[in-house]
Amino acid sequence: MSEKYDVIVIGSGPGGYVCAIRCAQLGMKTAIVEKRGTLGGTCLNIGCIPSKALLASSEKFDEAANHFEHIGIEAKPKLNLKKMMAFKDEVVEANTKGVEFLMKKNKIDHLKGHGEIVEAGKVKVGKDTYEADSIIIATGSDVISLPGIEIDEKKIVSSTGALELSKVPDTMVVIGGGVIGLELGCVWSRLGSKVTVVEYLDQILPGMDEEVRKESHKVFKKQGIDFKLSSKVTSAKSGKGGVDLTIEPAAGGDAEEMSADIVLMAVGRKPYTDKLGLDKVGVETDDRGRIKTDEFFETNVEGIFAIGDVIAGPMLAHKAEDEGVILAEILHGESGHIDYNLIPGVVYTWPEVANVGKTEAQLKEDGVKFNTGKFPFMANGRARAMGSTDGFVKIIADAATDKVLGAHIIGPGAGDLIQEVVSVMEFEGTAEDIARTCHAHPTLTEVVKEAALAATDDRALHI
Ligand code: NAI
Repeated sequence: MSEKYDVIVIGSGPGGYVCAIRCAQLGMKTAIVEKRGTLGGTCLNIGCIPSKALLASSEKFDEAANHFEHIGIEAKPKLNLKKMMAFKDEVVEANTKGVEFLMKKNKIDHLKGHGEIVEAGKVKVGKDTYEADSIIIATGSDVISLPGIEIDEKKIVSSTGALELSKVPDTMVVIGGGVIGLELGCVWSRLGSKVTVVEYLDQILPGMDEEVRKESHKVFKKQGIDFKLSSKVTSAKSGKGGVDLTIEPAAGGDAEEMSADIVLMAVGRKPYTDKLGLDKVGVETDDRGRIKTDEFFETNVEGIFAIGDVIAGPMLAHKAEDEGVILAEILHGESGHIDYNLIPGVVYTWPEVANVGKTEAQLKEDGVKFNTGKFPFMANGRARAMGSTDGFVKIIADAATDKVLGAHIIGPGAGDLIQEVVSVMEFEGTAEDIARTCHAHPTLTEVVKEAALAATDDRALHI
């Protein structure tokens, strides 16, 4: 038996490492278990960070290739994919090293290897067993595939393989028109692939505002991505040349054959709890494999907690981080809770898509009366000057109290713009509060203000 800790966190993604830092800040003797060679989990190593590096680089390439001439810049960009990938790897390394530094700075022990809970209060890592008053599971999620389709990370890839391709495929089929499918579909489309997104539902981006979904479909189509909506892939087989796919209408009907150099599987993720010892110690999971917890993130086994993708709720890094901080504070004897309605979602395409709070459809279902204000980027001077006028901001406010209930944005910088509304909602503010707040001119934030004006007595000024 080795050392005794106050807290052992299993998994060093944004949920785990942030939780460990907060535990250490609060004076708890903390260790973090990680089996990957580097810290940071899926997000830093093979998710959020490398995808954002490729999104930013491919966006610059696309701008230079397609949007410079119009503004009087003559240039013919040449892609050096190897260098673009090397830059992405540099970004990942800087971030994972940053987490390593933060662990050292906060005197958190990094236990290298696969962590298995052998009984409440005991975690085995390699040959050693460590004791802790509290064990926090933050093991994240893993990609799911469709029945009979094997991800080989060469021709049939998950997001991991799609971030590592050594050449731009001529053709790519993306299965799933959700967040990963659109972000990575956009990357390869910008770099020259003919991308087709096959989506089971009748529209992309399920769960989002209906108008945002329609607008994003229109905009990405205009950018050159093909969509097969209400369609399902029933088989995908790697052949000599590429991948042969069979696609059927979601409602049934005649199948069509298609082939592609690369197929990206992006139909969702599942909680990752492999060989964690959950069965042995009796930690309960639900029918989707998510670890069940109470509102204090404790499982049915005393002293074992879980946060992030491995429990219910949106699989988002910032949700996991917030849960990690709150759990650390709860373990320290403080209180805390998360308003899951106020967790923003962002799709980092261009234009970006962002949302917070309720959609109109949800409010109608709940019988809530509301006002909606919508303002297009086309009518904003800054967006025009940037040559980025697709999209709009929509703000939804309670009809009786004017309290902001939700915001849905598609447009330039949507991921940053949404934050103003999140803060206003956190303070239970109204559309009038946003409308009466001075917004700098000329900025994209004025679109948020105008949408708020539109939501309060339809008094937008610039339309
Ligand atoms: P997703 O749940 O966002 O989208 C999956 C899509 O696949 C859905 O539109 C679904 O209708 C479709 N689909 C399911 N079965 C299908 C079939 N047989 N044929 C065709 N389409 C089918 O899942 P995704 O994109 O894989 O992302 C996984 C998780 O990672 C999500 O929870 C997402 O929020 C998170 N993520 C978040 C990012 C962000 O915040 N920017 C970036 C990447 C991932």
